[in-house]
Amino acid sequence: MPHTLIIPAPVDPHVHLRGLDWAHKGTFTSETGAALAGGYAAVLDMPNTPPATVTPEALNLKMKAMAQESVSDWGVYYGAGLFADAAVYAYIADDICGIKMYCNATTGDLLIEDSALREAHFAAWKRAGNVKPIAVHAEGETVAQILALTRKYDIHTHFCHISTAEEIGYLQQAKADGLPVSIGVTPHHLYLTEDDVPRLGAFGLMKPALKTRHDQQALWAAVSSGLVDVIESDHAPHTLEEKGSERIYYGVPGLETTIPLLCLALHEKRITEQQLVKLVATNPRRIFHIAHDVNTYTAIDLAATYEIQNKNLFTACGWSPFSGMQVRGKITGVWIRGTQVFNGEKIRVPAGFGRNIWHQPL
Ligand code: DOR
Ligand code: ZN
Repeated sequence: MPHTLIIPAPVDPHVHLRGLDWAHKGTFTSETGAALAGGYAAVLDMPNTPPATVTPEALNLKMKAMAQESVSDWGVYYGAGLFADAAVYAYIADDICGIKMYCNATTGDLLIEDSALREAHFAAWKRAGNVKPIAVHAEGETVAQILALTRKYDIHTHFCHISTAEEIGYLQQAKADGLPVSIGVTPHHLYLTEDDVPRLGAFGLMKPALKTRHDQQALWAAVSSGLVDVIESDHAPHTLEEKGSERIYYGVPGLETTIPLLCLALHEKRITEQQLVKLVATNPRRIFHIAHDVNTYTAIDLAATYEIQNKNLFTACGWSPFSGMQVRGKITGVWIRGTQVFNGEKIRVPAGFGRNIWHQPL
């Protein structure tokens, strides 16, 4: 017997869609197709993929390409670069979902280690008068350093892919102190640990890296207690050839496995149905101020059990670190503004259907 769960407008607020100079890894069409197949109505795209989204020109180029090629709805982050300019921030604010600041090592060259420059970005975003968040890639003690800026500038700070017990500790205290922070955790840090790396090889390498069982337990406890706001895929596909090469390409795809893994967590009684809806839909829409159209929703058959198989994936990379895993929850349909965009098997809209969610309610 199917048991249908309806989720209003799921949003993955952390993806690296590729396209443009990295179209060999995946296109906006293929990866937003993976978003729909994974049950998401919209995705928020990170700025590191080349050409990096750190100038208004690069932002326009990306928005134009996404408008022409996307099948799901979308938003774009602007990357904190070598200059912090409030006038530029004010100029682009209506087009973007927020700022992304890389404070620890990542793919691409957007790293900002200088604490004065980090602060200059907080100050500029504040001066530009924005309510949208600054999302940060901060690990370990860097989390504490960024929290000092959150406190000083009173800007909503979203902490991406939190992966350790130490980081959870800093953020638990920050929330207790009433700071405007939110916490994202990825499914790979919940369902995999460093013990899986020998088995997975290059398919188990991403940033932040997989952590210990102790960290994994702290993450699950923080998800179950409601401390974690969002589960974000950090979808970052690289080709099979790249993953099989000498060089290390950090990143794993996740758009099609995140909601099924959370349905598994529901089945395992780690979270409730209400928490699942919050983690993938209500909370990301709240944090990023995304308007909601009641005709945008996803239907999932919670009773369905199946194995994740590479051959069934829509992502152009064609692999998953969860391949072979038994999960729950089959996406049976996705509707955006009343149009059925995915029917459980096929994408039903042409490239260009997806909209920038700041120009049209999702
Ligand atoms: O593993 C990662 N891959 N971490 C990042 O921060 C970026 C991403 C990518 O774009 O490949
Ligand atoms: Zn990322």
